[in-house]
Amino acid sequence: MPYGQVQPLFITPLYSNNFRDTHTLNKMLQYVRGIEYVDKGVYGSQKTSANTYILDEEDLFPLKQFVQNSIQDFTNNFLKSSLTLKVTQSWVNLSEKGKMHVTHTHPNSIFSGIFYFYTDSRSPQLYFHRESPSNYHYEGQATYYTSNMMAFRPPVGSLLIFPSSIPHSVGINESDEPRISLSFNTFAKDNLGTVTELTKLELDKP
Ligand SMILES: [Fe+2]
Repeated sequence: MPYGQVQPLFITPLYSNNFRDTHTLNKMLQYVRGIEYVDKGVYGSQKTSANTYILDEEDLFPLKQFVQNSIQDFTNNFLKSSLTLKVTQSWVNLSEKGKMHVTHTHPNSIFSGIFYFYTDSRSPQLYFHRESPSNYHYEGQATYYTSNMMAFRPPVGSLLIFPSSIPHSVGINESDEPRISLSFNTFAKDNLGTVTELTKLELDKP
């Protein structure tokens, strides 16, 4: 039995929501299956859509609305912030059998998101990695306090939103069917910070 107590000091938010309209989701899946993909030549890596502003396409309008509503839900109701974010770039990832995505972050973005168009039981997991991993290995059971990595297998229709600075990766796809997901970045829609706190960021100031 524990003698004292432990509480988390700071918590990294991972927002999730589900697109529940399966008919519309299937129509959008058909659309993304038909778009052009490019292989960036990174060995073993997944392909990405040629269009990197894909959420601006009319065929994905229901998803864009869902993403925008979810971002607002996340910032207003969970972060308790009046920050208004807009989606900057957005693209589709196509991971064929044997392909993966190495650990990376999303620079020049505040929060990033992933939406799952197609996964199955043999699709790869998504891994989040601790930004400052412990230099020590703790023997025994993994806990939120000691783990350097968290694994997720989000179902079709899932949307995840997380800080863009969190390193993440995707394992090797063992499924015969390509895993298809959409990624996006965000930035502040209006200016950030306040003059009095010396944090003002006016991007449109000449
Ligand atoms: Fe990513």
